[in-house]
Amino acid sequence: MTGARMLGLGVYRPARLVTNDEIAARVDTSNEWIRSRTGIVTRRIADDEETTAVMGAVAAEKALASAGLTADSIDLVIAASCTSPSQIPGVGPQIAHRVGALRAGAFDLNGGCAGFSYAISTAADMVRGGGVRHVLVVATERLSDYTDWDDRSTCILLADGAGATVVGASDTDEIGPAVWGHDGSRHEAIQVPGGGDNLFRMSGQSVFRWAISLVPAVREVCERAGVAPEQLAGIVPHQANLRIVEALATGIGATNAAVARDVVDSGNTSAASIPLGLARLLDAGEIRRGDPVLLFGFGAGLTYCGQVVRC
Ligand code: ACO
Repeated sequence: MTGARMLGLGVYRPARLVTNDEIAARVDTSNEWIRSRTGIVTRRIADDEETTAVMGAVAAEKALASAGLTADSIDLVIAASCTSPSQIPGVGPQIAHRVGALRAGAFDLNGGCAGFSYAISTAADMVRGGGVRHVLVVATERLSDYTDWDDRSTCILLADGAGATVVGASDTDEIGPAVWGHDGSRHEAIQVPGGGDNLFRMSGQSVFRWAISLVPAVREVCERAGVAPEQLAGIVPHQANLRIVEALATGIGATNAAVARDVVDSGNTSAASIPLGLARLLDAGEIRRGDPVLLFGFGAGLTYCGQVVRC
């Protein structure tokens, strides 16, 4: 076997839904403004017990079950998260422990909102290299811990959730070449500064413009995979803002693709948003297993990463 593929998928959505009207009761905004500028209608916010480790472990167990695997077959756990409750330790080893992947290695990867795409490409290359057979990739985020609930430009967007997959060996290669890049000169555009300031800050409009400018990179993802945009069955950009999602999908001419619009119900869950959006398309029957689907993450760093997968 020389290839790698996503063998299963699992997600966790916190039970608590927060409506736009609830946000508007706290800050100077409105349901109409939020819907028209972001597409978001509700977002899910975790309770105290729904930690990144707990949410990630539940999503991971579902991914294992859907792959038909048990935890003892996992060689490595990669946790994609930028909202670990602590700087030290990372959440990967806790998830590995919770799911019972006791002989696995475990580490965290902070690729911001592109973390899931970076993690599955890292995992796929490790599987292709032959050093590991099964890698559990878990994206888990609690942006609500870092949300300034008095900042109307960001509190309307941010949310919590988790998604996971198992990347494993396959006769055919079903995780296409990654296209990635960064603009580290603009690292201050999205940040939790630290040093006593643990609140999420974003230059919304400049991030918006940067995200839209990534259309050529998204097109390159298709080119590298040898799949024309109109052949895509689905497209799952990072779920930051519905206007960005639609601009990227139409910008590359993905005319026949089901477009993930999970942001409408789930808000922006950073690295977790791509597996959540992918699961939504699969559950709704808008894409089927084996279909070519483009994933594209972008965000804090600034950084981006995307690939075409058949899952
Ligand atoms: N309600 C009402 N008015 C608001 C709100 C609000 N919630 N938020 C901002 N405004 C106001 C501003 O104060 C401003 O008013 P002014 O003209 O009087 O100064 C006006 O609306 C326009 O503000 P903009 O910031 O230009 O609004 P914009 O249309 O750009 O929408 C938004 C803001 C939704 C944040 C948008 O810029 C966006 O989605 N940016 C990209 C976010 C993103 O992609 N992040 C990616 C990664 S981050 C992550 O995923 C964790």
